[in-house]
Amino acid sequence: MSIFASIPSAPPDAILGLTEAFNKDSAPNKINLGVGVYKDKSGETPILESVKTAEARILAATVSKSYMPIGGSPVYRQAVQEMLFGKDHPVLREDRARTAHTPGGTGGLRVGADFLKKQYPNATVWTSTPTWANHKGIFSAAGFQLADYRYYDPATKGLNEEAMLEDLASVPAGDIVLLHVCCHNPTGVDPSPAMWTEIGKLAAEKGWLPFLDFAYQGFGAGVNEDRAGLLEIAGACRELVVASSFSKNFGLYQDRTGALTLVGDHADIAEKAFSNVEIAIRTNYSNPPAHGGLIVETILADDSLTDTWLKELEGMRNRIAAVRNDFVDRLSAKGVDRDFSFIKQQNGMFSFSGLSDEHVAALRDRFSIYIVKGGRINVAGITPSNIDYLCDAVATVLA
Ligand code: LMR
Repeated sequence: MSIFASIPSAPPDAILGLTEAFNKDSAPNKINLGVGVYKDKSGETPILESVKTAEARILAATVSKSYMPIGGSPVYRQAVQEMLFGKDHPVLREDRARTAHTPGGTGGLRVGADFLKKQYPNATVWTSTPTWANHKGIFSAAGFQLADYRYYDPATKGLNEEAMLEDLASVPAGDIVLLHVCCHNPTGVDPSPAMWTEIGKLAAEKGWLPFLDFAYQGFGAGVNEDRAGLLEIAGACRELVVASSFSKNFGLYQDRTGALTLVGDHADIAEKAFSNVEIAIRTNYSNPPAHGGLIVETILADDSLTDTWLKELEGMRNRIAAVRNDFVDRLSAKGVDRDFSFIKQQNGMFSFSGLSDEHVAALRDRFSIYIVKGGRINVAGITPSNIDYLCDAVATVLA
């Protein structure tokens, strides 16, 4: 007699499931352009030098592995807030932000979702069309109803500004709108500064809560530049929630180093609300894993390590930009007549290629090239040794 026999299998994860399939594939030329993990030109995901130095210091200095506070180390939490807002922002001066170290940005989203669901059980969560495959999973697992706002326009390969504003204007007060601060996943298409102003105005006027997902700070134009949308929203709205991540910009993927930050109208409001975030954490994973947070706080407390890290981040950003150009130019050199030049304008790690699900399936079945359904390519997975094979394969499936 089996208790579990009646349970059907769940479908593989749209992104992480690809890596599993890729790992099982024995084709010598296989390429994984699925999961958003940075790779250098030799196809490796290196540990940053700044991270290695910080880890050596931590190893020498750490004397205990006792529990962290529920919200994580106070030094880390302060570092997160300064990273998000910049050191001298009114939100920090007025003590209106409270931060918890969460297991990755995903953990931040889920803790935020659990906290909000308890407080606002009837709210709907609005996400962009399209959005990161896991967003809907996280918010529906927390019990929320979901709705979509229009975002990407396949015809122009840009933002559908009018439709987005129209949809956001229809969101009822008390609902929650999930916005990607930069390097929109999967499209790489971000709102302009003028659009952020309009979005902030709408949030304030309509009374919906902005929930910002900030997973790629430093992969767009730079750490400071990439927070522009967040600053615009924080200027327009007294209250917001931010899930952020150091997975990509510090390369700490497996150390699960992220945060949830709540900004309240006043310090005491933030303090009271945040005590409920701590309940959401305590009843889920109790308190965060320490290691990644220690790395981040060690680097950010040391000017020279910060400098090294910023240069390494710039190196990752520049490589991705160069690969975008190379990819587009080679496709055209191979006689592909479709215009892919829009890929050069997209921000962050991904190229929303415009390849259809049929093309994606053909690339996988015939060439062992793994791309997320919807046509999102991890540009960082393209290297000098696989770019020709990739472009030939794309040319073949498009022909
Ligand atoms: C991605 O979109 O590929 C990354 O954010 C990794 C993930 O967890 O899906």
